[in-house]
Amino acid sequence: MKDVSVGICGLGTVGGGTFNVLTRNASLIAGRAGCNIRIGRLASRARRDDLELGDIPFSTDIFDVVNDPAIDVVVELIGGYEVARELVLAAIRNGKHVVTANKALIAVHGNEIFEAAEAAGVIVAYEAGVAGGIPVIKAVREGMAANRIDWIAGIINGTGNYILTEMRAGREFSEVLKEAQALGYAEADPTFDVEGIDAAHKLTILASAGFGVPLQFEKAYTEGISRITPYDIAHAELLGYRIKHLGVARRREDGIELRVHPTLVPQSHLIAQVDGVLNAVLVDGDAVGQTMYYGPGAGDEATASAVIADIVDVARTVASGSSQRVPYLGFEAAALEDLPV
Ligand code: HSE
Repeated sequence: MKDVSVGICGLGTVGGGTFNVLTRNASLIAGRAGCNIRIGRLASRARRDDLELGDIPFSTDIFDVVNDPAIDVVVELIGGYEVARELVLAAIRNGKHVVTANKALIAVHGNEIFEAAEAAGVIVAYEAGVAGGIPVIKAVREGMAANRIDWIAGIINGTGNYILTEMRAGREFSEVLKEAQALGYAEADPTFDVEGIDAAHKLTILASAGFGVPLQFEKAYTEGISRITPYDIAHAELLGYRIKHLGVARRREDGIELRVHPTLVPQSHLIAQVDGVLNAVLVDGDAVGQTMYYGPGAGDEATASAVIADIVDVARTVASGSSQRVPYLGFEAAALEDLPV
């Protein structure tokens, strides 16, 4: 069996989860990938004593990973916009494939990154950026490849859904947010969760994959849950509704509409039953009808599950010597115009 060498940048919640699952399930993953996936280098601000890093080369400079000629795949798990952008573009320039969980990076700089990756003939995979462990990008892009998608809607921020769920049980917004941060669900800057920015990043990426349009984060209407009060929640319940923070992408005559905001959902709807850190995404396709994807939307090993699924996809390509088995975003050339949102 061939070896494919992976370099992990970032050992936070998702980096640690990815290390642990890759190590624990190494032989199972190798069987599925058809090659051994070796962790060739790790880089992070600091070592983590709780992880059994052994003698794997470790750097505090993440650029050591992209400059290591032995690394085939760079796994970007540092988060944020600018340093992550530089890291990913440097990896691409060095001919390395990239796997990232960074939705902010893809939503804001994805067009530039995919263009660079296409020119360099490398893959950039980003399944873990949307809906944590749910393989929704693959579902939309590959599983629903036969369909004209008319709309995508769902709960795509686990922290926000956790807060709304716990508030329904009478808990305070700020106390639940602190708990979500301690559990590793929230973003480094939790205003991204509670002001809808994280959901808008994810919706931008989902819409791009589903409708075949470029990433247009700046066109998303973005409203969070920070102004929802216990009074709103109680009154919605009395009227037979539940307040859920939804992302909605819809095909219209004049383009694609993107919006994230709190929504009154009838209590009988499946989406109203999705509680805690879980996410759920409904996708409407003309051939299959409505489909729903449901599962953990955040957390170390749940997100690692999606990161490693992408590593496996990329590793198969590297091991087989073929190029670009995984499509970038599945754009059709004809769909590349800037659709008004
Ligand atoms: N902060 C994000 C959430 C993490 O709560 O959904 C997963 O993307």
